[in-house]
Amino acid sequence: MTRKKLKLKSSAKKPLVIVSAIILIIVIVVFFYFNRVGELKSLGYSEEAAKSIIFKFKYSYIMDIGENETLNAAFISDDYIDDNLDKYAKIEYDNQEHLISNINKLLDKGYSVNEISLIIDKGDDESVTEFAKRDRVKNIDEFLSVDFAKLANYDRYVAYQELNNDDAETTVLYVNMDFDKEDYVDPLVIDDFDDYVLVNKHRQLSGKYVPDDLVTIDEEYVKADGEIEIERNVAKAFYDMADAASKEGLELMVSSGYRSYEDQEEITNTYLELYGQNYVDNYVAKPGFSEHQTAMSLDIASKSVNTFLESNEYVWMMDNAYKYGFILRYPKSKEDITGYKCEAWHYRYVGKKIAKYIKENNITYDEYYVMFLDD
Ligand code: DAL
Ligand code: ZN
Repeated sequence: MTRKKLKLKSSAKKPLVIVSAIILIIVIVVFFYFNRVGELKSLGYSEEAAKSIIFKFKYSYIMDIGENETLNAAFISDDYIDDNLDKYAKIEYDNQEHLISNINKLLDKGYSVNEISLIIDKGDDESVTEFAKRDRVKNIDEFLSVDFAKLANYDRYVAYQELNNDDAETTVLYVNMDFDKEDYVDPLVIDDFDDYVLVNKHRQLSGKYVPDDLVTIDEEYVKADGEIEIERNVAKAFYDMADAASKEGLELMVSSGYRSYEDQEEITNTYLELYGQNYVDNYVAKPGFSEHQTAMSLDIASKSVNTFLESNEYVWMMDNAYKYGFILRYPKSKEDITGYKCEAWHYRYVGKKIAKYIKENNITYDEYYVMFLDD
């Protein structure tokens, strides 16, 4: 009896050991799995990417590489291709919806990882997707290495350089300023307004656009019939500037500030009748194309001298306006760039930092905007 009982016990033990071993293995695997997910997450990978890395047996590979946003995107993408893994790791990340599928296509076309990084950096999802459909283009780095180049303008750079033979940086700058387009033809309609907005003969404000923080300039500073409105911060900066000028015995006034689309229409028609089309082309913006509609620009006057160019206030402004955040918007030496004849009186508020940069580097706001603010 006793022997039989013992025999039964021994045969029941075997499956128990196997089950325990299996459970132990599962516990160990689960432990390692979660441990590795945790390690990958602390490196900067998302949970989804971490799981995919482990299931694709790339844990050690990724631990050697460390944090890499492009790899993170690759591992969560349906377009992941194992053969491209080393290349993904070397391509600069950008938050674009079709990033991995576009990288695959560009690699297929024979672009190097450096070229692909440039293409992605200088494009957005739409322009990169379009570019990835094209036949391979040679020497793209010539233009795309310029900091402010745009992939979408690539063909225009090529065409402009063929005609003008400028170096790559100048070509990119001029094309981004739309020098390859006629004035007022096919303008960009500005729908995203901010205080740094660039308005010129290629960039138009909607007729409906009215700035939302207008204040009326104190009467004592107005040299015009009726009231003048301007953006609140521009008014403040102007008062500071006028105070500083008055300490040197000078009297700064304002002869024009915010002008609505309709005001500009009226001005254009008046000057057209008085002085003709040529004058208007050189000195008056078409409605929608005037910086005055932004309320960020002022026409400055001298209280005592009617021709501003002949006043001491003009000289003072040339030397000091930038300290208060204003720039001479249409200088004599930059007529080819601004598209307007010199206007000694027209100042644009851009803030002190930008005004100083523009003054020190002798550039226009059109150039500054294209180089640093346009995206
Ligand atoms: N006089 C400047 C260009 C304007 O009309 O806005
Ligand atoms: Zn003006």
